[in-house]
Amino acid sequence: MATRKLFFLPGDGIGPEAMAEVRKLVDVMNADHAAGFEIEEGLVGGIAYDTHGQSISETDMERAQAADAVLFGAVGGPKWDGVGYDVRPEAGLLRLRKDLELFANLRPAICYPALAGSSSLKRELVEGLDILIVRELTGGTYFGEPKEIRDLGNGQKRGIDTQVYDTYEIERISGVAFELARTRQNRVCSMEKRNVMKSGVLWNEVVTANHAAHYADVELSHMLADAGGMQLVRRPKQFDVIVTDNLFGDLLSDVAAMLTGSLGMLPSASLGAPDEKTGTRKALYEPVHGSAPDIAGKGIANPLAMIASFAMCLRYSFGMVAEAERLEAAIAATLDDGVMTADIVGEGGTAVGTGEMGDAVIARFRAA
Ligand code: NAD
Ligand code: IPM
Ligand code: MN
Repeated sequence: MATRKLFFLPGDGIGPEAMAEVRKLVDVMNADHAAGFEIEEGLVGGIAYDTHGQSISETDMERAQAADAVLFGAVGGPKWDGVGYDVRPEAGLLRLRKDLELFANLRPAICYPALAGSSSLKRELVEGLDILIVRELTGGTYFGEPKEIRDLGNGQKRGIDTQVYDTYEIERISGVAFELARTRQNRVCSMEKRNVMKSGVLWNEVVTANHAAHYADVELSHMLADAGGMQLVRRPKQFDVIVTDNLFGDLLSDVAAMLTGSLGMLPSASLGAPDEKTGTRKALYEPVHGSAPDIAGKGIANPLAMIASFAMCLRYSFGMVAEAERLEAAIAATLDDGVMTADIVGEGGTAVGTGEMGDAVIARFRAA
């Protein structure tokens, strides 16, 4: 069997702690099923900056380009608050997204039955929740030019970020959302702010036209993004797939994360376009949460977002759908058995550490 090349970038804070659990799982899959995974590991974020003054080295960028899939932990922390903008830990992640052209960020928010009581919303609002946010990831305010702090020469400065979207970017991200909707409840809600933003007007027009031309079988609705945020906490189950831009998608996916009980639960996949010849696509998988400096080093971080990100990797990069489903079922079974980390354990429950949580999922994965 062909080898499957994984490139691990554990990063900072709880990144390496969560990634260690995926490594254990990959070792088990190689031993039990001859899965043929080959792991290389590199540096990203603050640890890369401390090592060679850049948030990711050229060598590691090349290794990321050459891998079948990149697994990313988390970056950042107070230690690097003062470093230059271009070399700050988060810059490494943004470079990976941009240079690998990972324009489609899939952020599912699933409320596992055992966690319906851990959400800040009432149980009946989140029980059975299964929504997918499709966030555009290589355009918009994150990358638009000009992007600078301009000295106005009169003692004033001007901070500038630019929201830019071209037709092709909106077409391809909405195409991903429509395709995925067809495999789910066949509904897409597009969110922008066409009432104030020109890019929002174009976004709305292009999504509408793409829908009419190619995806008329999918139910399409539009919502202003601020109202979308409100609806996400008012009645989240009204949504199936949400498609939105880079910045709104960042905000809305953190909101959606809390519906599931904890930021420690939310995985993501960042995908490029399929290669015309081979059909393979560049991909990076990472939890939605950050490096959680407040709990780093304590061994209490929830590794489920990282493990669920690996499930997405099995599904989207290697077509190992049965294994992905088995892993997701193992996560659900672990939670059903009451095994929970501190961020999700209910009052009176006993929390397990990161390693025990990983072991519990792996044991159930093996047993299934
Ligand atoms: P964060 O996601 O790191 O933490 C927010 C809160 O959620 C904290 O209280 C944290 O303890 C908790 N939390 C997050 N993940 C958890 C987990 N797996 N288990 C248990 N609890 C968890 O966000 P923040 O505090 O705003 O940011 C901290 C740093 O992380 C910043 O430098 C930020 O830029 C960076 N960040 C990185 C990424 C990334 O690498 N993809 C994403 C978001 C933030
Ligand atoms: C995320 C993070 C990143 C973003 C940061 C760390 C650059 O918040 O992946 O949601 O803003 O996209
Ligand atoms: Mn974010």
